[in-house]
Amino acid sequence: MVRQGRPARDPLKIREELTSDDYLDLITRLLQRCRRSDPTGGVWEAADLQWWWRRVRPSDRCGQLFWLDEVGDPVAAVVLTDWDRAWTCDVVIAPEHVEALFDLVWQRGLEQVAALELDAVEVRARDDDTTWTSALDESGFAPAGDASTATWLDAGRRPQVSPLPRGFRLLSRADTSDRPHHMIGRNGEHVAERLAECSLYDAELDLLVEAPDGDVAAYALFWPDPVTRVGLVEPMRTESEYQRLGLARHLLTAGLERLAARGCERFKVSHNNDNPAARGLYSGAGFVPDSISYAYARRSP
Ligand SMILES: CC(C)(COP(=O)(O)OP(=O)(O)OC[C@H]1O[C@@H](n2cnc3c(N)ncnc32)[C@H](O)[C@@H]1OP(=O)(O)O)[C@@H](O)C(=O)NCCC(=O)NCCS
Repeated sequence: MVRQGRPARDPLKIREELTSDDYLDLITRLLQRCRRSDPTGGVWEAADLQWWWRRVRPSDRCGQLFWLDEVGDPVAAVVLTDWDRAWTCDVVIAPEHVEALFDLVWQRGLEQVAALELDAVEVRARDDDTTWTSALDESGFAPAGDASTATWLDAGRRPQVSPLPRGFRLLSRADTSDRPHHMIGRNGEHVAERLAECSLYDAELDLLVEAPDGDVAAYALFWPDPVTRVGLVEPMRTESEYQRLGLARHLLTAGLERLAARGCERFKVSHNNDNPAARGLYSGAGFVPDSISYAYARRSP
């Protein structure tokens, strides 16, 4: 087990902990807490980081930094994730603790990046978060493009489920659990086991569209969060030979219906700004843009 205590550094009796074993539970609780404090703040849902869990990564065992209050609830974290091309560093702080903890958390994040001798590090920040963007600038991070828009839709405004073209059928992972998972090709051989370790994963919302010849033509995963009542869409894909047939629209509208049935009151999906297909798909379903975030990158000298 990777766990290491440090003395409390502030009067709120908040203690720092470096842990790998409790990571998924702690980051889920922290992001849920953030979402409950601010209905659209930050960049990530708990389900986003659960989705990142789908692959085995070197960062799984390097330990993640958390700050816990006196009853053991997480109030802040620095999450380092290995994406092959670079590691990302995500700082998450409960809104009511940002003022008191930001400088300490970011400083410790930079120390952790230095201790791991990471070559290339990327951070994602919202363009309206000036605390963050100033700190990144002062720490030698520069904008690296890769703009992403977060969009939201109230469950009550969801569109009707659109039809599927003839011969195609909608299935869920619950119907296909006797086969290899349909996302192995893009997400690694352990995707089924890793998703099953995620508390927000629901095999009945892990959807795919099968072509008449049995090919997997499209798929999408919908994440209902019972604590925040937000349903996240991630990922969404139609294979190139099946695009523009209405498969993604069917997956999206059918998935939103299932999220609503699980009690979700709002839905969120993000897309890169240079992806007109995704923008058209989500805006056509009624999703409204809310915030833009950018990647910032730093290479060690
Ligand atoms: C985005 C994507 C899922 C759309 O899949 P699809 O099955 O082709 O989409 P649909 O046929 O259901 O189209 C629904 C709507 O999406 C929009 N859309 C889809 N493809 C589009 C394209 N190439 N250009 C512009 N708009 C497009 C349109 O608004 C379309 O409605 P319309 O056909 O009435 O104009 C698909 O292009 C894809 O998998 N891309 C690669 C992965 C990806 O970008 N995923 C989304 C990440 S957020």
